[in-house]
Amino acid sequence: MAEMSLGYLVFEVSKPAAWRDFATTHLGCQIVADAHGEDCALRIDRKAYRLLLRQGKADDLAVLGWEMPNEAALQALATRLAAAGVAAETFGAEDIGARQVTAGLRFRDPLGLVNEAVVGQPDAAMPFASDAMPGGFVTGEFGLGHAVLATGRKAAAMEDFYMRVVGLSLTERIDTKIGPIKVDGAFLHCNRRHHSLALIAIPSRKRLLHFMLQAAQLRDVGMALTRARAAGIKPSLDLGQHPDPDGTISFYAPTPSGFDYEIGAGSGAIDPATHRTEVKHATSDWGHKPSLRMQMRGAIDMIADKFRKAA
Ligand SMILES: [Fe+2]
Repeated sequence: MAEMSLGYLVFEVSKPAAWRDFATTHLGCQIVADAHGEDCALRIDRKAYRLLLRQGKADDLAVLGWEMPNEAALQALATRLAAAGVAAETFGAEDIGARQVTAGLRFRDPLGLVNEAVVGQPDAAMPFASDAMPGGFVTGEFGLGHAVLATGRKAAAMEDFYMRVVGLSLTERIDTKIGPIKVDGAFLHCNRRHHSLALIAIPSRKRLLHFMLQAAQLRDVGMALTRARAAGIKPSLDLGQHPDPDGTISFYAPTPSGFDYEIGAGSGAIDPATHRTEVKHATSDWGHKPSLRMQMRGAIDMIADKFRKAA
């Protein structure tokens, strides 16, 4: 049975020129002529778009895009949204034309983040090729990678929404610290990818903490890290490995919008039918040393949140 997957992400970016350069040089994306309803569309695989850039001030995630396997799955989602009292707007001709899909829905999560669920996310006419990422990315049934959101004080509502309404399932819970930051969250799957979405209950000025693209070859992760360092981009989390069953070897570094990108390889797949939820007390087996900037950013967000609470 085909399952839903993370189909695309729309970022609202204040520096589109820097982003276009960053996306091609550091992520290994291909810019395409048709912007699919936004200001710039980027490919990482056979799909016509996976990352979309919208010019604006937020420097954050603007849309979480889900690819549904068929119309029945989209209809079932619409029914769950209605039952939960969540307003959903069906794609009209303009949205269908821009995204080049056969059907779609738009709705908001409890933090107000726009989600889109579509059927028939299109393929490009040309095969994907990238000098920066010669081995390409692992996508297909696994979707584009994953996104990690900060849920602040709405952790319970966000988890309930994405699991009960959107239809993801719990892979594992995390209860640990990175530097001074307490990390408490849920890793959610909707196919054999270990997590397509993670929800971390920390205060943050940005909803998106990071997004991850999975390189097919470990060599390309090393090349991406070398490229980042050569360009003066300091990793937020240096090379390291997540514990099994994820097992991804990756690094994290800031995008021109301030939220991080993660490039990894060697991610283990799960079997959703037999997977047993675990609680993890470490995010890494080795490495992933946080930068000072990352620790400071976490501490500043925590202090700002305490002041808001006190006010
Ligand atoms: Fe990640």
